[in-house]
Order: sequence, then structure tokens, then C-alpha cells
Amino acid sequence: MLRRLHPEQPDSFAFTPANQAWAEAQMTKYPEGRQASAIIPLLWRAQEQEGWLTRPAIEHIADMLGMAYIRALEVATFYFMFQLQPVGSVAHIQICGTLSCMICGAEDLVGVCKEMIHEKPHALSADGKFSWEEVECLGACANAPMAQIGKDYYEDLTVDRLKEILSELAEGKVPVPGPQNGRFAAEPLKGLTSLTEYESGRTQYNASAALAVDIGDTVKRIDGTEVPLLTPWQGKPKADKASGSTRVSEAVAAKKAKSEPRPAESEPADATGTTEQEAQASSQAKPVSKDEPAKAGKAAKPAKSGKTAYAEAPSADTLDAAAAAMDAPASVTAAAGEGTKPRGLKAPLDGGADDLKLIKGIGPSLEQLCHSLGVYHFGQIAEWGGAELAWIDQNLKGFKGRASRDQWIDQAKVLSAGGTTDFAERVKQGGVYDD
Ligand code: FES
Repeated sequence: MLRRLHPEQPDSFAFTPANQAWAEAQMTKYPEGRQASAIIPLLWRAQEQEGWLTRPAIEHIADMLGMAYIRALEVATFYFMFQLQPVGSVAHIQICGTLSCMICGAEDLVGVCKEMIHEKPHALSADGKFSWEEVECLGACANAPMAQIGKDYYEDLTVDRLKEILSELAEGKVPVPGPQNGRFAAEPLKGLTSLTEYESGRTQYNASAALAVDIGDTVKRIDGTEVPLLTPWQGKPKADKASGSTRVSEAVAAKKAKSEPRPAESEPADATGTTEQEAQASSQAKPVSKDEPAKAGKAAKPAKSGKTAYAEAPSADTLDAAAAAMDAPASVTAAAGEGTKPRGLKAPLDGGADDLKLIKGIGPSLEQLCHSLGVYHFGQIAEWGGAELAWIDQNLKGFKGRASRDQWIDQAKVLSAGGTTDFAERVKQGGVYDD
């Protein structure tokens, strides 16, 4: 296959400030005069930032490393891991077509890509969200057939499951990576034949899949190009004076957003913003103890444990009164069909803001956004109706639909009543965020 630069190229390239600093640090790893040795990591970083490797990016990196353009072009065009044409905005699908995977059905998976994405590899789907290619062994042969989607491995695939995964990704969901047939890791398909005592201590997911779920990882590894937080209440991003691009604010937002929890797989919200899983939320959420069941509207003091002290949750009545007294902004109706902006407080009530990160789906960045909306307490979220939920869902750019998918309201009801959830407990124990 001929590897050529794409005929359409952008005018320029600049690393985001964070990536620029990272790239300069890589260059210091090599002795003076040997900076060209950093060519592959820098090209890779540029690809992660832009999605694909552009000519301006290759030349920019060649300049940084003091290399002739042709030397950098040789590297970029030689290695198949470098994408020389635009890839899908959601994901680039790499189907392993080597022996184990081919024996186990890789050709059928390629057929799915041809059917759902494009007849030809490296071509964008009609909506621009996906692209695909066949690649050589990705080293997960025991779980054949498999595909790398974005940066994640999806293993033990079937035609039906790959179709589902593509549909879920298109809807903004992030399917849990790893084996897709119920297998835990790479143990025999018929189960363990030795060390069987480990069966009993098995968690829901293997370690890497569990970590991905816990930190809210996505299939993207990009740092600096996702713009998940450009919401109406933040206004337009400020241009980077140096580069004239909007990358600075995007980079900061993307970096902050890296620790956002992965949206749970769930049924799409109905017209009222209620999901099937929301209806089950109360059975998933658990009270602090059997003797202290969660009761909506009654504030109780959650146990103080872990690294953070948790303020007593104000009741719904207190919040109402406070909002009125503080002349909180009136509800603002967003664009037609997008619901109603939730009412906010000018400041947290006495006792301080609740730790909204105890709600699955609200990480540090989205907690900041909630604060910018005047939302500081579980009780406020607990009071949202379908209109407020719809507004929030619509305006979580990059995370659209997350508030419904992760059942923020039901979680908030439990937490505001002094109850807790499995996720909240993990946060309190320091197992989710680095703070
Ligand atoms: S043959 Fe497909 S991962 Fe090795």
C-alpha cells in the first residue's frame, strides 16, 4: 500500500502548550545533537492531538528537531501507526487481520466495518465519525478476534457485538473495553483449570477495564483537542495570543476532563429524561447503614472518611428559601427543545458546598461547571425535573446526555438524604480521583 500525504492539508500546526512542554521534555532525553531520536514520540503526540498526522505537523516537528523535512517524512510514511489522512472524529477502528484473529472471524469484522463505516479502509463514514483499517497482530491473540478502537482493545468480538459497539459509540456512549463475551481476561474460554481459587475474588471487570471505568476513560488518548467544556455558560473560548488558535482553553479543558468518569452504558433517555436505569437507581444506591435508611428530603450527616470532609446536605426546603433570598437567576429557557436552565445559588449555603464528585458522572471539571451554574448542593440536583435535566444534558458538550445516563438526579436524591452509593464510597476512600 502506498502511503502518501493527504491531498488536503491544514495551513499550519502548533502543539498545545501542554503538548509543547511535553515535547520539549522528550527532547532533553537525548544527548545534544541527537534530538532527532525524539521523532517518533513527537509525531505520535501530534497525531494524538490532531487525530492524524498532517504535513504542517511533520514539518513543524522536523524544525523542532533540526531535521530535514524529508527525514521526518520518511519516518511518518514508513510506520503504519501514523495516520496520514483524517480519521473518524469518534474513533478509528483497527481490525486485527493476522492469523489467530483471521481464523476466528476477523474477515467478518472487516465486513461490519465495510457495511457500517465505508467500503474502503481509511475512508470516513458518511457522518465523519468513524474510519477503519485492517492491521497486523496487536498482541491480543488469546482473545481473537479483536479490534483496537481508538486506544482501547475490544476483544472476543462477534459480528453482532462489533455492530453494537459502533452504534453505542455513535450515540456518544463508551462501551467498556476488554473481552466482549463475558470472559474476564485471557483465561481459557471454558474457565480456569488451575489457580481456581482466584475465581471467588473476581471483580466485575479485569484490572485495566476496571480502571478505565473508574477514571471515566474514553477511547481517545488525545490531550488537547477535545473540547468537552465549551458550554454556553462559559462563553466563547479565548484565542491563544501566541498561536492565534483556541487550543489553550481547549487543552486546559481537555486535561481537566481526563478524569471524568466514563458514562455508564444505559438505555437512551426518554422524553422526560428518565432512563430505565434511573428507575433502578434506588435499588443500586444503598443507605449508610441498615439502621439509617435514606429518606428523601431529610438531611443526615454522611460519615466522614477518606481524604475529604463532607458537609451536611441542606434540605430541599432550605435550598428553595436560600435561592429566593439570594435573588438567584431566574430560569432561562435554552434553545427550543433543550429544556430549562436549572436555578442556581450565588454561593454555597452555610457549611460549604457538597462534594458533587460523589455523584458518578461529575468529575472535577463538571463539578466546576456546576459551581459556575450556582449548583453547589446535592439537594439542588435532586430537585431538577425533566426540563432541567434536558438542559444540562444538552449543554454538556462532549458529554451530552451524561446527566441522564448516569442518573445524577437519583444519585443526588440519595446523597442529599444522607445516604450513599457504591461510587460515592469509592470516591471517599480515594479510589477515584487524585486529590
Ligand atoms: S492475531 Fe490478532 S491480536 Fe494477534
